[in-house]
Amino acid sequence: MIDTIKTNLKTTLENVLSAQFNKPITVIVEEPKRLNQGDISIPVFAIAKAINLPLSQTVQIVSDAIMTSKLADMVANISSMGGFINLSLNKSIVAKGVFDTFAANEKNYGSMQIGTGKTVCIDYSSPNIAKPFSIGHLRSTIIGAAIGNLYEKCGFTVVRINHLGDFGTQFGKIIFAYQHFGDEEMVRKDPINELVKLYVEFHELVKTNPKMDDEARRIFKELELGNPEYVALWNWFREVSLADYMKVYELLDVKFDSYDGEAFYNDKMQPVIDELAAKGLLKADQGAMIVDLGDQLPPALIQKSDGSTLYITRDLAALFYRKQTYHFYRCLYVVGNEQKLHFEQLKALVKKMGYNYFDEFEHVNFGLVLQDGKKMSTRKGKVVKLIDVLTEAIELSKQHIEEKNPELENKDDIAQKIGVSAIIFNDLKNYRANDFEFNLEDMVKFEGQTGPYLQYTSVRITSILALDQFRYDGEIDFNLLSQDVFFDIIKTAGDYGKTIEKACQEAAPSILAKYLLNLAAQFNSLYGKERFAVTDLQERKTKEHLIYLIRAILDDGMKILGMQTIAKM
Ligand code: ARG
Repeated sequence: MIDTIKTNLKTTLENVLSAQFNKPITVIVEEPKRLNQGDISIPVFAIAKAINLPLSQTVQIVSDAIMTSKLADMVANISSMGGFINLSLNKSIVAKGVFDTFAANEKNYGSMQIGTGKTVCIDYSSPNIAKPFSIGHLRSTIIGAAIGNLYEKCGFTVVRINHLGDFGTQFGKIIFAYQHFGDEEMVRKDPINELVKLYVEFHELVKTNPKMDDEARRIFKELELGNPEYVALWNWFREVSLADYMKVYELLDVKFDSYDGEAFYNDKMQPVIDELAAKGLLKADQGAMIVDLGDQLPPALIQKSDGSTLYITRDLAALFYRKQTYHFYRCLYVVGNEQKLHFEQLKALVKKMGYNYFDEFEHVNFGLVLQDGKKMSTRKGKVVKLIDVLTEAIELSKQHIEEKNPELENKDDIAQKIGVSAIIFNDLKNYRANDFEFNLEDMVKFEGQTGPYLQYTSVRITSILALDQFRYDGEIDFNLLSQDVFFDIIKTAGDYGKTIEKACQEAAPSILAKYLLNLAAQFNSLYGKERFAVTDLQERKTKEHLIYLIRAILDDGMKILGMQTIAKM
């Protein structure tokens, strides 16, 4: 809200002063550096220079311009100090502004229009077929889904793409292993584990029988060429793996518009390779095809000596396909820090090919999940399976409910909503590029900086409002709300839209997560200080309107982050 006022003030003053002095004048409107200097501060040094008048006179001119403008009503107090004009805003008018904005668009409060007519592709989750869904893929899924929601809230059209790792030489190995020592029944029963076992077995046996590698390569080459027997097996492995991942997506309530993975680009790479050749970028190197990327980066390997393609070749084809199909304004890749080099090479390749959209795509990187300071793994050093982690979080949440509220109905359903949201929030409250410690016990707690704390705050408000069967009708005493105890939280509520926009632009859901924690903390502190069940009806209704607004923001923000809201807990 303050932001809107700042923008209005800036434009108004620039128009007035530019007209008055007959030259373009830029006005800076900022928040005061120190407390007790009001809500808005305007440094006039640059203006004085532009209009060639002493500071004191400039202060007078700018102050007059403010107080004769439409915005004068908003100003409760105006003063100046050392070349700065400081304004205190009329708190009840600001409060009214916040509630008016909310009431005008209750269902979509905080939404922005910066993305109208623009499409953003978000490539996230993207697990590898025939391998378990790892904790790293969980991060990509959670962060990607939240960024997608942020972009939607800002008015963009979002295309959610699951770029499945469903191609590459390893499929030659798995098919070989399945045909030689696999069992259909076993794969049906426990697909991922069984396929992993076959892959591991292949690697054991190939040590003493290197010919197997040639066989696997031949199989993959034929798969690329469309051998129906291999294609059928590959399809089956893909389907059973995907069915397994779907369980995770359902639990997280995450959806995609496209599951076109690497294999989808099998027939779309040759034109790209031809283009690289035509542009004179492709170079033979010991039978393989590479593109030199200068001194700063290692060359990109485009085609192996046996003619098979690579991860980067498929990503290059995918990028062109997405540009042609979706005409994206931006294309984001939510992938771990460890693929930094890959995306730098991709960017360099596109630049070398002469396309100007090399800066329209971005590696939205993220860090590792640590346990006791080390990359998370099970005792045997294998990858931690996501579904186990989620199940454990749900069980722990159930225990908390049993302790705190054993009478609660639908305990299982609520425990699931708490447990899953706890994991999501714990991830998103950290800036994505940083590593973070994974402590299940801590993240499911109802107090502290946790997801359940946010859910609990919303539930608390719901139960206060339920006492009076509250209905929002806009009967609010704005004078009451101009008191300092209320005003801070109203300012925060008014900053929701700006927070969404910032989180979207920086692809950083942590900005929204931290904002929600602060809002919840402000509410809980207010709740400790103020009585809500007062007899004065107007006061009571006003306070209820305020917390209704707070809950609407909490619930909306949680939904954007991918969390579930609940009515009782
Ligand atoms: N499947 C890859 C992996 O697990 C991630 C793919 C990311 N997306 C992309 N377009 N490269 O490492």
